[in-house]
Amino acid sequence: MDTQIHPDLKSILVSQQELSKIVDDIADKINKDYKNEEIIMIVILRGSMVFSADLLRRLKMPVKLEFMQASSYGSGTSSSGFINIKRDLDADITGKNVLIIEDIIDSGNTLFRLKNVLESRNPKSCHICTLLDKPDRRVTPVDVTYVGKVIPDEFVVGYGLDYNEYYRNLPYIGVLKKEIYE
Ligand code: IMP
Ligand code: MG
Repeated sequence: MDTQIHPDLKSILVSQQELSKIVDDIADKINKDYKNEEIIMIVILRGSMVFSADLLRRLKMPVKLEFMQASSYGSGTSSSGFINIKRDLDADITGKNVLIIEDIIDSGNTLFRLKNVLESRNPKSCHICTLLDKPDRRVTPVDVTYVGKVIPDEFVVGYGLDYNEYYRNLPYIGVLKKEIYE
């Protein structure tokens, strides 16, 4: 089946083939780093769900799956330093290896706050894995251990990432045409 680009997209930024390679490479690193260790994978809803599902199936150590939903909020459209936890973990992470799975890091506000919240619960370790990173937009520095791909400052959708809750089902990542969101 060939990839027909969605009409709302300007271009494809990460193809299905490249996504598969990115997930393979991250999984290899995680499998090495946590050899003989158990981890709790924290899926940050909703954007990282697709990436997490692919990554999970490549991991070889004992893995438990947890979900969390958070948003940082403030005035206008950009995120602020405040965090609203809409859905919290079921598990106690004290003394456990925690791996936070995110779709994209933009300003860094959400993840910076979220990591602080999780670290205050005294896990054995706490690392961040993100599929995409937009470093040009960073406001708050975040320590990220695993990065799939660094991308330019463009609004991207697909493979879990949305605009207005749409486009998450696209199997690749593309740049949304400006006229769609402006
Ligand atoms: P921040 O790092 O606190 O600014 O927020 C990151 C969150 O903003 C991500 O988890 C996404 O939900 C959303 N986000 C940022 N950039 C994009 C994008 O290009 N496409 C889709 N969602 C994005
Ligand atoms: Mg998100």
